[in-house]
Amino acid sequence: MDQATFIKQYATNRANTNSLKWDALDQRYGNPDLIAMWVADMEFQVPQAVTQALQARVAHGIYGYSYTPDSYYDALIDWEQRRHGLRLEKDWIRFGTGVVNSLYALINTYTQPGDGVLILTPVYYPFFNAIRDNHRQLVTSALVNDHGHYQIDFDDVAAKIKANEVRLFIQCSPHNPVGRIWTEEEETKLLALCEENDVLVISDEIHQDLEIDRTAHPFISALTVANGRFADRVIVVNAPSKTFNLASLLNSHVIIANEQLRAQYDAAINRLSQTEVSVLGQIAGEAAYRNGEAWLDQILAIVRDNYHYVQSQLAAHAPQVKVAELQGTYLTWLDLRACVDPATIHQFVQDQCGLAVDYGEWFSPDQQGCIRLNLATDPKYVHQAVQNILNGIASLKSAD
Ligand SMILES: Cc1ncc(COP(=O)(O)O)c(C=O)c1O
Repeated sequence: MDQATFIKQYATNRANTNSLKWDALDQRYGNPDLIAMWVADMEFQVPQAVTQALQARVAHGIYGYSYTPDSYYDALIDWEQRRHGLRLEKDWIRFGTGVVNSLYALINTYTQPGDGVLILTPVYYPFFNAIRDNHRQLVTSALVNDHGHYQIDFDDVAAKIKANEVRLFIQCSPHNPVGRIWTEEEETKLLALCEENDVLVISDEIHQDLEIDRTAHPFISALTVANGRFADRVIVVNAPSKTFNLASLLNSHVIIANEQLRAQYDAAINRLSQTEVSVLGQIAGEAAYRNGEAWLDQILAIVRDNYHYVQSQLAAHAPQVKVAELQGTYLTWLDLRACVDPATIHQFVQDQCGLAVDYGEWFSPDQQGCIRLNLATDPKYVHQAVQNILNGIASLKSAD
């Protein structure tokens, strides 16, 4: 299907559906008429095979307690192998009702109050909350922005691990919001540092499938790095939700290869809660893994084109704006500090540009003046957003 036909068929107006992104604009930003470029979900309907599978279950009309069928495991294992060369075993897989929920459970399972937990900033803000809410010690290492290409400061990571007796590292791979897919070399260095210092790793791989150029920048799971050398100290959390736009169906995975860590997790979860699965979430996820690949490739092409539009327009008309290189995720990260006073960024973005975005300081206090735009949307919104940003910058200049 060509892209225009795909967009026509799948792009959908979400107003009046209790969409957090669109229907909570007034509550969150004080203006219901902004273009919603925040929250990481999409304006595209899910693959038709997913809708059909859900419709068949809804027609049955009963939603009693369920278990996960073997066919779900098979679909997930097959997807990971086919798409990423990741070989999972059924025994390793546990289920959650969302990756963030699982982060809270995992922090409680493997660390004690006061323990150091490391994150690389700027990063998805619930990482900060999960560490602070559980009274662990927040340890941060800032990524280095080398002309839009973010890199890990390995010396700083090593020093921070040692100085703070870090017990746990929570990594974001691919990294939201800076769009990096870590290379195997970077991952090997990072995980070797964790190994040397006996640090456990939670690898949040929810964006694993959102590879912008799979040939140039392929995703590699922390479980696969260096032929699985680190698999015994890595816990992966992922889900079909980001890939296939299923967030509200509350179905995610916790993947633990090491038997002892798995036993520890199972014991902790038994103490905390009973583990029910989301039947609709799993029906949707299985259908997506089995029949959603062509749909995903169409989405990735749209995201890629949207990104190139943002990048080329800003390079041509506002080259002071730094656009981070987008390798993974559908989120683009813009540094506007060279043209907008960071203290006025909210007024600029909302009042002048008419946009709702995720603000830089949500991802790290020192990032005020950066914004994150969601590109998994109808190109018409991206074009309008870029035009509004360019007009906004032009009017700031003329006011100077
Ligand atoms: C890195 C990362 N982890 C987790 C989530 C949310 O996952 P869930 O909705 O399963 O809690 C997001 C959503 O944007 C994310 O970017």
